[in-house]
Amino acid sequence: KIVPVIMAGGKGTRLWPLSRATAPKQFIRFLGPKTLYQKTLERVSDSDRYEAPIILTNEDFRFLAAEQAREIDMELTGIILEPIARNTAPAVAAAAALVRANFGEDAIMQVFASDHEIEAGPDYFACIDTAFAAAKSGKLVTFGIEPTEPATGYGYIEAGEELPSGARKVARFIEKPELAKAEEMLAAGNYTWNSGIFMFPISVLVRELEAYAPEVMQYAEQAVLKDESDLELDFIRLDKDAFEKCPDISIDYAVMEKTDAAAVVPSAFSWSDLGSWDAVWKDGDQDADGNVIAADATLVDTTNSLVISRDLHVAMQGLDGMAVIASEDAVYVGKLSDSQNVGNIVKMLKAQK
Ligand code: GDD
Ligand code: MG
Repeated sequence: KIVPVIMAGGKGTRLWPLSRATAPKQFIRFLGPKTLYQKTLERVSDSDRYEAPIILTNEDFRFLAAEQAREIDMELTGIILEPIARNTAPAVAAAAALVRANFGEDAIMQVFASDHEIEAGPDYFACIDTAFAAAKSGKLVTFGIEPTEPATGYGYIEAGEELPSGARKVARFIEKPELAKAEEMLAAGNYTWNSGIFMFPISVLVRELEAYAPEVMQYAEQAVLKDESDLELDFIRLDKDAFEKCPDISIDYAVMEKTDAAAVVPSAFSWSDLGSWDAVWKDGDQDADGNVIAADATLVDTTNSLVISRDLHVAMQGLDGMAVIASEDAVYVGKLSDSQNVGNIVKMLKAQK
């Protein structure tokens, strides 16, 4: 069976004012009744395919992670708590050490981002099956999404020859390119976006971490304390002194760009990183006027807009392509087409404090 490892320690700021340092994107409810973290858990709930998941998160989010799992009756193998944020490579390395100790050298772990919207239909699970076959043959597997724009916030994967598993060899992995390079790759056509989901055979992952990010592996392993290495515990606390020594680097830069063992499963399932209000609007259920509304709202002559509000009633008139997002204590109003820049507002707010 596959051991699911869910990364839920990121602090996205692009969906302000709903996502906050205290409640990042994966833990907030913006459209439906469930959070992205809960939907991620549900994608690994099939016990024929998966062990109970392991959560990787920051000490600060331990109650959110535990409580939201309980709300949907999701059994967890354990919650690994990082004493400080060190990005995804140290987190994945610590998880690898724990999975090896608890499930053995031959275990296969699947790593998930917790903040994506994915449609888990038959197409999706067919990709998981292909990835599992490729991982069993020793590949570090990525899932490649057909790109639609020259986005600079994603990893790009150039596909190489086809492998017996049906996956393709990765010819090159380019994490977060400059715009010109992204445009070039989009035009070239043989590139896909890295979805942020990975399937790793433990032994190969550890070998490649030791080769390309030895300090990450060494200190992450040290951070797994002997008496806390039993995943039966509710919370597994990593040792701060050791974990702090891990370089701050993502798994994409640390391993995926460098390894020769990478494979990609070309993936046709519907996937969104929901990295901006514009992406949330595109992903939402648009009404006849193109509006996506999760609020008590009155709209007159208003089209192609996103309205989210918890408590306040929102009225709009004569507007097109707008985002109006109201949390308990702040309101954001902006053009959907500008919503990649919300992070700038968050920076300004931080500077004012
Ligand atoms: N546990 C833990 N600890 N999780 C973390 C940490 C950390 O320090 N930092 C980030 N995460 C979690 C986030 O919550 C998210 O679920 C996932 O790891 C990915 O981190 P992001 O910060 O969202 O990465 P990104 O969006 O910049 O880039 C990654 O995802 C893209 C797709 O959305 C890369 O894998 C890209 O190659 C990829 O295209
Ligand atoms: Mg992301």
